[in-house]
Amino acid sequence: MVTPTLEAIRYKRGELLILDQLLLPHETVYIPINGIKDGHSAIKTMQVRGAPAIAIVAALSLCIELFHKGETLADTAATLAFIEESLQYLKTSRPTAVNLFDAAQKLWKTTQAAAAQTVSPKDVINAYVDAAEQMLTDDVQDNKNIGKYGAEYILNHASPSTPLKVLTHCNTGSLATAGYGTALGIIRSLHATGRLEHAYCTETRPYNQGSRLTAYELVYDNIPATLVCDSMASALLRQEKVAAIIVGADRVAANGDTANKIGTYQLAITAKHHGALFIVAAPSTSVDLSIASGDEIPIEQRPPQEVSLVRGILPDEPQLVAKTVQVAAKGINIWNPSFDVTPASLITAIATEKGVVTKKDGESQFDMRTFLGGN
Ligand code: MRU
Repeated sequence: MVTPTLEAIRYKRGELLILDQLLLPHETVYIPINGIKDGHSAIKTMQVRGAPAIAIVAALSLCIELFHKGETLADTAATLAFIEESLQYLKTSRPTAVNLFDAAQKLWKTTQAAAAQTVSPKDVINAYVDAAEQMLTDDVQDNKNIGKYGAEYILNHASPSTPLKVLTHCNTGSLATAGYGTALGIIRSLHATGRLEHAYCTETRPYNQGSRLTAYELVYDNIPATLVCDSMASALLRQEKVAAIIVGADRVAANGDTANKIGTYQLAITAKHHGALFIVAAPSTSVDLSIASGDEIPIEQRPPQEVSLVRGILPDEPQLVAKTVQVAAKGINIWNPSFDVTPASLITAIATEKGVVTKKDGESQFDMRTFLGGN
């Protein structure tokens, strides 16, 4: 029997459904995205999240908008203006993951190029839609390549005599992408080789992408795995021989500094202290060559309620699924940055769909520009 894969995004021309990740792991509910307002809201409220999934849902939500409204756009100029305005709006949903900005820029260039060649608004819309749909297809293949290259790198650099244990943070799997995943894709790929002894995933407070989503994916795929609180990572590395910490990325600067889910930086520090590999898994769409270092990455601040309130259910009362419990003392100030920046010096290697990037001997930074051919 073939186990169906988890799908965060279901799309066919004229219909876009996303798995509501606020309800996972308790309920599997697909909600329709009927246009850019729905797309923007689903991204902002984190019904869909993860850098590649954010970009793809934004792009496809405009396909749906155009499917319904395209014929009301008078001419090519009006179509171009509408697409540009919609992309600008979608870019305001979340600020840190660069994939959204990269997708918007590429789609805008494609649309402009089509408009330069035709006077038919329909052809312009088709060019946009074809390019957006291609992003959905490409993402899965890119993730499989990241998984393959990342797994090979880890197997070549981890001790062959020690059972292979890895730790991951946040959710970077099928739920965060069009399928397979990036860091979790590497874990899937390691598992497929038969060499993976055990995977650990962090809870990933405050939003619990680890305990709600990654744990769900690991159980779903029958990968031997254990959940730990974020505060247990160093104790775990001290006690168990964890060969590698594998994380995703929301934005990688030209020097390799990497923004990822809050808590990633402290994991990189503990990896260094305990001699574990620290691997970033990122498609090239997560690399922002326009910024020299991580200092320039905008860090999203999320609402304090994500820290002070915890969502959950009582096992026998599934109707409480959307209920929250106050866990912080009322009146306390709350700091809730959604991401942090790990300096390149703490990163061992960056696994992309084009191969694994490492630092030159004696250097503390990566040269992402040369690796990616300068684009
Ligand atoms: O706030 P989120 O859940 O969107 O943050 C997700 C992460 O930080 C992931 O590690 C990153 O987007 C890579 S997903 C393949």
